[in-house]
Amino acid sequence: MSEVLELVDVSVVRDGRALVDDVSWSVKEGERWVILGPNGAGKTTLLNMASSYLFPTSGTATILGERLGAVDVFELRPRVGMASVAMADKLPRRQTVLETVLTAAYGMTAHWQESYEKVDEQRALAFLDRLGMSDYLDRKFGTLSEGERKRTMIARAMMTDPELLLLDEPAAGLDLGGREDLVRRLGRLARDSYAPSMLMVTHHVEEIAPGFTHVLMLRQGRVLAAGPIETELTSRNLSLCFGLPLVVEENAGRWTAQGLPLS
Ligand SMILES: Nc1ncnc2c1ncn2[C@@H]1O[C@H](COP(=O)(O)OP(=O)(O)OP(=O)(O)O)[C@@H](O)[C@H]1O
Ligand SMILES: [Mg+2]
Repeated sequence: MSEVLELVDVSVVRDGRALVDDVSWSVKEGERWVILGPNGAGKTTLLNMASSYLFPTSGTATILGERLGAVDVFELRPRVGMASVAMADKLPRRQTVLETVLTAAYGMTAHWQESYEKVDEQRALAFLDRLGMSDYLDRKFGTLSEGERKRTMIARAMMTDPELLLLDEPAAGLDLGGREDLVRRLGRLARDSYAPSMLMVTHHVEEIAPGFTHVLMLRQGRVLAAGPIETELTSRNLSLCFGLPLVVEENAGRWTAQGLPLS
């Protein structure tokens, strides 16, 4: 199995502070990782590196076999799909949902062109259908609800047929029904052997879909635990990660976490 991401002794330093602190982490093809950690732990910073928008201050980052610093990032970026709020905020609000997904095929955030190929449109329609967005094709992106926007962004991230898919808090802001719907769709994607390797940042273990295989826990830029979900997503590790006593439970492939009751 080849590596889709390999970080060796990676640090990201800003203003004299290590946002990511000496991280070594390896993701193999086909693995689906969940990234957990408190606010400010460095989760988004890691994803920005995995999408080649941010370079390490020290250490080496190899993405899909290409080493950051020694590769043309414009060739690498289409091979990595990323869905995040920061990216959604950059997209034109007046574009339709279909246009928003289609423009990804051309590596653009704006500028609708008339010359999109039929085959691209069919792909966009198929991804939007898979994310339950077929009824919204002509809606303006800026008018979508949070959940609809998230689903559009995931369809958009799939458009370049990425080998690595990065999701930064895909279920944040969704109501219970929206969350469960998204978890089901992500679960289907995670279990699809043709789907790309996935890294998903989340704040809630309840958002981990069955089919995710590994977990990375970060605290203050450092790796606290990394490995298979069954062995690493434990009450002990999660308590250390968030700095309070937590009990983690698994039931039929879904997870819950809660604080210990005060005695
Ligand atoms: N360009 C920057 N300059 C200085 N500090 C930064 C910069 N970018 C991020 N940070 C800081 O780095 C830390 C890690 O940020 P990051 O966005 O990776 O956290 P996160 O784990 O994604 O948090 P959250 O759960 O709140 O999204 C934060 O303390 C943030 O304020
Ligand atoms: Mg973040």
